[in-house]
Amino acid sequence: MKITLSVIKADIGGYVGHSAAHPEVVQKVKEVGQKAVEDGLLIDCDVLVCGDDIALVMTHTHGVDSEKVHGLAWKAFEEGTKIAKKLKLYGAGQDLLSDTFSGNVKGMGPGVAEMEFEERPSEPVVVFFADKTAPSAWNLPLYEMFADPMVCAGLVIDPKMHEGFTFEVLDTFTGKAVKLSTPAELYDLLALIGTVERYAVKSVWRNSDGEIAAVASTQRLSLIAGKYVGKDDPVMIVRAQSGFPAIGEILEPFARPWIVEGWMRGSHNGPLMPVSFRYATPTRFDGPPRVIAAGYQIAEGKLIGPRDLFDDPAFDKAREQAQMIADVLRRQGIFEPHRLPSEEMEYTTLPKILAKLEGRFYEAEAGKKGPSGEHLDVD
Ligand code: 13P
Ligand code: 13P
Ligand code: MG
Ligand code: MG
Ligand code: MG
Ligand code: MG
Repeated sequence: MKITLSVIKADIGGYVGHSAAHPEVVQKVKEVGQKAVEDGLLIDCDVLVCGDDIALVMTHTHGVDSEKVHGLAWKAFEEGTKIAKKLKLYGAGQDLLSDTFSGNVKGMGPGVAEMEFEERPSEPVVVFFADKTAPSAWNLPLYEMFADPMVCAGLVIDPKMHEGFTFEVLDTFTGKAVKLSTPAELYDLLALIGTVERYAVKSVWRNSDGEIAAVASTQRLSLIAGKYVGKDDPVMIVRAQSGFPAIGEILEPFARPWIVEGWMRGSHNGPLMPVSFRYATPTRFDGPPRVIAAGYQIAEGKLIGPRDLFDDPAFDKAREQAQMIADVLRRQGIFEPHRLPSEEMEYTTLPKILAKLEGRFYEAEAGKKGPSGEHLDVD
């Protein structure tokens, strides 16, 4: 059977501040999803929460970009927002950047990751969900899962994976994408996706037969809204086992924390901490950024699960190391490289501060770069 797995997420109100979602709001989103299962629009629906963000995990047969399925998610978030407004939760309806739904939630605020595939005899998948970070947070782990044999042994051992994977990379500034096949074009891929402020991996495909392997949400709220309206807080779907990385190979990149953008006011670099569902409540300096991993077996479209995959003491060390990195970075306070570089701050108040001070800059030394890095005219 060909099924579509759609994960659509939004922050529709924080409880308290930006630290978590309120149970009543989550319950409402669940009810709307459950009703759609009863009405036959969806085969199954589950709801995940990471920080102040809520994700609908939906299976159906309407394909990707289905107006009905996107409309249902929008309705669920609208209904949830009504409760968030009643409770005066923080940033009620924060990620709903449009007043009305117009066919597809893409470009309207919510994050979307969806894929259509023929359900295998056994279909294990992992849904990753992060809070206080951007879609490019998935660049490094996707590279390790699908192109680094030191992390994913299957690339060497499993004949179906031996021909490698193709990465679809989005330039979030222009909206253009490029497909790069690994291992042949690995260094080109890394040259792009190491530039995390601009490029984000959108999807990954298996070279041997063109099967879809992974899809990530790539929506960037600041580029849609033209100003800072909270962080994107992305989701990602990865298919596992028999011709795809094993569950353990998919989770392995998260056993060693790395640094992502986001955290306080979306303006800082910080470690991505893998946590169990119950600890996906970022509070220290509104972070550090969190990621959860929900494992499902799909059976005739039904979501068997989720299993809380980071609820394993084997990830304690990563959590400890993330705490240590958080301490070191926090020591920098408002100074770079803890605070993001100025180009990344352009959607915040920083340009206004520079504009206010503009007339007060005088020539002190010839030939130096200006405060935003531009070359000053010293004639
Ligand atoms: P089991 O023998 O526990 O099923 O493990 C198989 C495997 O390949 C683990 O990576
Ligand atoms: P969220 O995107 O999770 O709402 O975070 C916003 C923020 O500014 C946290 O400090
Ligand atoms: Mg929020
Ligand atoms: Mg959030
Ligand atoms: Mg957000
Ligand atoms: Mg087994």
